[in-house]
Amino acid sequence: MSDIQRLKEEALGKIEALSDLKAVEDFRIAYLSKKGIVASLMEKMRELPKEEKASFGKDVNILKQALTECLEEKKAILEKEEERRKLESEKIDITLDAYTPKLGTLHPLTLVQEAIEDCFIGLGYKIAEGPEVELDYYNFERANIPEGHPARDMQDSLYIDEKTLLRTHTTAIQMRVLEKEAHDLPIKLICPGKVYRRDNDDATHSHQFMQAEGLVVAEGITLGDLKGTLQFMIDSLFGEGHTIRFRPSYFPFTEPSVEVDMSCHVCHGKGCPVCKGTGWIEILGSGMVHPNVLKMAGIDPTRYTGFAFGIGLERVAMLKYGIDDIRDLYSNDVRFLEAFKRLD
Ligand code: DAH
Repeated sequence: MSDIQRLKEEALGKIEALSDLKAVEDFRIAYLSKKGIVASLMEKMRELPKEEKASFGKDVNILKQALTECLEEKKAILEKEEERRKLESEKIDITLDAYTPKLGTLHPLTLVQEAIEDCFIGLGYKIAEGPEVELDYYNFERANIPEGHPARDMQDSLYIDEKTLLRTHTTAIQMRVLEKEAHDLPIKLICPGKVYRRDNDDATHSHQFMQAEGLVVAEGITLGDLKGTLQFMIDSLFGEGHTIRFRPSYFPFTEPSVEVDMSCHVCHGKGCPVCKGTGWIEILGSGMVHPNVLKMAGIDPTRYTGFAFGIGLERVAMLKYGIDDIRDLYSNDVRFLEAFKRLD
């Protein structure tokens, strides 16, 4: 076998064994580049006697062609393999479960607020809001509780300065609305919001809680309208079939004032631990808007009358969902919150 033949066998064997594209390139440089083995054989041809030149040249050319073709083939195979490996490693496994985002739930107080709003929007009421940092004027004065009035002690207040406090009740919103809308009667409003009291937090007290205030002012509004409206609200919140009763009470901004009880939603009036054996549950305060309050707003109390009520949202949520510690509503423990779904 000639030297060229041996070299060819050896080189083809090497090509066969090449395992990646880098090795292919290294081989090309070693054998087929300008300074490679094949080129140096061509150099050698010059030193050969004339008669050997032609056949040597031919052999080297065959060698060059064989190596080039073989190397190209190998390169194509390795490129294909590389591509397959790449595709394999970038493959998306469509059999994997899709990521399902964890959806939050509405806070029970939001559920109660929305339920109250929905019930009154259905009756044609509007929703109104007011500032939590409120003037003493709207929180007390306009609610017929002037300075020095003993009723100021009914609500321990958090004052910011002499004239400003964190509102103690949503009745402050009622007073703002009366002032603003006195010339646009009738008024039919629900005012939900946060309120603040100087209280020590325990299972039934919170220094911050929520109320929703209701207000209707028009000609010919009576206590009967109030009772019918409250009955409708209780039915929508707790389901139909609850009886409500009025107990005489006192609020400076209503006359007469009533405390409203509903028949116990757990025992339906028979008496149980929830209603402390009475069959009744105290649910809200209300009454007919005091003539002084109407007068201060510039509304003629001899022509117009109105009713108002204030309901605690925590109380409704606690009764509705059987929550026995008000602090659970404010600790925002996700496990607690996840237990609540819509009121419907
Ligand atoms: N503002 C009262 C409170 O916080 C609740 C209340 C009672 C509101 C009677 C009213 C009402 O509008 O008529 O205790």
